[in-house]
Amino acid sequence: MKNISSLVKERLKKEQIVLLDAIVEMASIHNVSVYVVGGFVRDLLLNIENLDLDLVVEGNGISFSKTLAEKFCGSTKSHQEFGTSKLTLQDKSHIDVATARTEYYSHSAALPTIEPSSIKLDLARRDFTVNSMAIKLDKQGVFFLIDIFGGEIDLKNGFIRILHDLSFIDDPCRIFRAIRFEQRFNFRIEDDTRDLMLSAIENKLIDQLSGQRVINEIKLILNEYDPKKCVDRMRQLCLLQTFAPEISSHDFNWSVIEKIDSVLIWLERILSMSGHPPKWRVYFLGLFITMKGVAFEKSVKRLHLPIKISNWIRLDRKFFDESKRQLDEEKELKPSQVYDLFTNLSSEAVVLLLATCFSERVCSYVELYFNQYCELAKIKLTGDDLMKMGMQPGPTFNNVFKALRDARVNGQVASRDEEVIFVRSNFL
Ligand code: CTP
Repeated sequence: MKNISSLVKERLKKEQIVLLDAIVEMASIHNVSVYVVGGFVRDLLLNIENLDLDLVVEGNGISFSKTLAEKFCGSTKSHQEFGTSKLTLQDKSHIDVATARTEYYSHSAALPTIEPSSIKLDLARRDFTVNSMAIKLDKQGVFFLIDIFGGEIDLKNGFIRILHDLSFIDDPCRIFRAIRFEQRFNFRIEDDTRDLMLSAIENKLIDQLSGQRVINEIKLILNEYDPKKCVDRMRQLCLLQTFAPEISSHDFNWSVIEKIDSVLIWLERILSMSGHPPKWRVYFLGLFITMKGVAFEKSVKRLHLPIKISNWIRLDRKFFDESKRQLDEEKELKPSQVYDLFTNLSSEAVVLLLATCFSERVCSYVELYFNQYCELAKIKLTGDDLMKMGMQPGPTFNNVFKALRDARVNGQVASRDEEVIFVRSNFL
């Protein structure tokens, strides 16, 4: 065990050290050994800020979590079957507390059977050496690094390495995780690990995961700092093809994926709109937007995409090509035509459209659309107003609203009174 107290003091914020000291005090009162594990330890050694504390207790993790909750006036949510507890502190931050445990997998991708154990066995069930280190919180201000599998040296040399040959078979999610950490830290998946990973991909172990677990992993990957590197790596390792079988280097629109990041940066700078599309959703849509219809439906089935997500993508796929065709014509468009071109698309699809046909002209259309036309298009008159003006409800209402929207976006109508005049002179 290596004393890393000075590193902890150098790198952690004062509040974090106070918190760790308080945890040590509680551990000594309750006569249990407590360890910080996983990503926190890895990021501490890499000098990367990480506020997510994961604690492992040799003893009863759930009752230790409850004790901490009492001390810090927090609350807990526990899962007896896993021996885990989420502690929420007053500032809304979380600490995950778990009983040290060992895991058995009855078959590949199964949920593991769990038994309380020691920190050693708890570390041995983990994914990669760099994630399998712990810090023993010994006495106040005295912290020891436990590194049984060579995590520190792999961190130094930049390797993602599994702990044993069955790791990807036990949990095929680790295939995604290996790529995520490799790309995040600019590391390299170590050769034997890569070979085992390729064989797991070839043997279709991903198919044993539920759609939800695959989506969760994809979402995490696409939320990384530079998702295109991860997508490219998934493509190189033929992983992309496992959940989107028809994506091949031929029909996969790599040039669009490549440009998403710069479009998102541009949007952030230019647009005043709130609620920019979440990054992972733009990349996710990017994977499917140009895919052929049959292939897309196969992916929907494979991923068990929730209806809300599959309908969102279907709708965007329906309007995307037509909008692209109109933009490619390079005609000057009236404001209402620009509005029509984008309004049927989600904001994620607008980003992709921009990535597909990036030009000054298209940029200015997008800027006008989000910053002006969306607001201008809000009609003040309602169906009730039209009826009060003597109109019969029916399909004509849609025509009236469309004409009003065009007039507002084109600057011909600017107020409710002007809308009334517009309807009187055009529809009554
Ligand atoms: N872990 C694992 N196998 C998995 C998922 C998690 O062994 N399939 C272990 C790893 O030790 C990991 C820890 O559980 O470090 C916590 O998991 P998670 O929060 O997903 O990962 P972090 O390492 O904290 O990564 P991130 O920085 O992305 O939060």
